[in-house]
Amino acid sequence: MTEALYSYVMDLQPEPRSLRNVSEYTKDVPAGHMKSSPEQVRLFALLLKLMGARRAIEIGVFTGYSALGIAQALPGDGVLYAFERDPEVLEVAKAFWDKAGVGHKIRPVEGNAVEEIQRLLLGDGAEKEPFDFAFIDANKRAQMTYYEQCLELVRPGGLVIVDNVLWYGRVVDGERNDKITLAIRELNEHMKNDERVELTVLPVGDGIALCRKL
Ligand SMILES: C[S@@+](CC[C@H](N)C(=O)[O-])C[C@H]1O[C@@H](n2cnc3c(N)ncnc32)[C@H](O)[C@@H]1O
Repeated sequence: MTEALYSYVMDLQPEPRSLRNVSEYTKDVPAGHMKSSPEQVRLFALLLKLMGARRAIEIGVFTGYSALGIAQALPGDGVLYAFERDPEVLEVAKAFWDKAGVGHKIRPVEGNAVEEIQRLLLGDGAEKEPFDFAFIDANKRAQMTYYEQCLELVRPGGLVIVDNVLWYGRVVDGERNDKITLAIRELNEHMKNDERVELTVLPVGDGIALCRKL
């Protein structure tokens, strides 16, 4: 994808003002590249609407970009549980969600996502209403745990989406055997062989795996 071609694509589907506000802010933030791409979030919004999704989970909020796109695609009574361990970025995200008028649909949860999901959604006394959609985009070495947690929480026919499955090309670089790259390769193989899901991998952004729960 050349820069000119990408501009053409974005010209055909301009980023809405509310999302552009987050993109513009995030450009100047350290590690701003972690934000999801506009076309990725646009795809999520389309899928959520096609599925008639009401209940969603996001793991890894950062400045709130993908969560905003997800919340906008949910109906008025929809809910997005948004897990983030960094209180500072979560405050920034909340301000963007409120400004865009979707704050009431989002339940931000601060803390370590593995523990908070266990406590709030899987533990004793947790409401057991299933979810339609989950987007996993946090610390890469825990992606396998998030995947298993989300698979338990999502209904049959629902979607679990995992981000960064291509890891900037390192998944096919035989020289790269650091812990994160190994963890990402391991989860990719796990999803490929997982008979509980139908897997679709798309080279959108840094690569997304869409797992439809059977
Ligand atoms: C790639 S960024 C998320 C990007 C976001 N989805 C977006 O589109 O802008 C990853 C985020 O996960 C958060 N994170 C990392 N480890 C976490 C953990 N154990 N629990 C919750 N959040 C975590 C980081 O603080 C960071 O904000």
